[in-house]
Amino acid sequence: MRKKIIAGNWKMNKTFEEGLALVTEIIGMTKDEYSGSAKVVLIPPFIHVNAVSKMVAGNANIQAGAQNCSNYDSGAYTGEVSAGMIKSCGASYVIIGHSERRQYFNETNSLLASKTDAVLKNGLTCIYCCGETLEEREANHHFDVLKKQVSEGLFHLTAEQFENVVIAYEPVWAIGTGRNATPEQAEEVHVYIRNLIKELYTAEISENIVIQYGGSVKPDNAKELLNQPNIDGALVGGACLKADSFLKII
Ligand code: PGA
Repeated sequence: MRKKIIAGNWKMNKTFEEGLALVTEIIGMTKDEYSGSAKVVLIPPFIHVNAVSKMVAGNANIQAGAQNCSNYDSGAYTGEVSAGMIKSCGASYVIIGHSERRQYFNETNSLLASKTDAVLKNGLTCIYCCGETLEEREANHHFDVLKKQVSEGLFHLTAEQFENVVIAYEPVWAIGTGRNATPEQAEEVHVYIRNLIKELYTAEISENIVIQYGGSVKPDNAKELLNQPNIDGALVGGACLKADSFLKII
């Protein structure tokens, strides 16, 4: 049985103080109201990861993550952060291949495959993002685009490694636009991705993999999206920056 994962991607938002205040609020609110039926992952900017990890340490349902990592282990790569460093800061998850990384930092599927390797090698869970642009959807190319992103980024992994992979389907046209995919559109893609995994790996692996939806998830659309049988959680951007909206989604 797949447990839902609700992850909050802060992107480049929150000063240190603002971030810690948000985490304090989330921890406080989840104590009273939250049943633990979903896993929660807080994904701040790198520089807050250690402090956030410490704050959630010991909380069985909340973990910390990072938004990106280097494909290298160490060395002269100014400005980069390795998966090993993220692990040593106490985080458990790393987002790989967010569309903003693909779009603004030219990250390719082959680079993302090596970043995924770095994440898994360090015993972290990879949240691998995929999603089509509006043009690709309108041209009805979305399934081809998704197949390429998922297969080139992930299909070199062994069946065992797949246990530490989460996939996030995030249509680019739905990110930060207020326009979410309909539950039916998202469900259709999630079934498609699950079948791709089934074809190459096993039915068991495809049934166990968590596939999150992301793109304008808000308190008022989360329930309908998360009620779809193949939507196993959400990767939340804007709505995770306030404790009350994030908690409503959880
Ligand atoms: P959004 O972002 O919820 O603000 O659309 C989602 C994401 O980019 O992960």
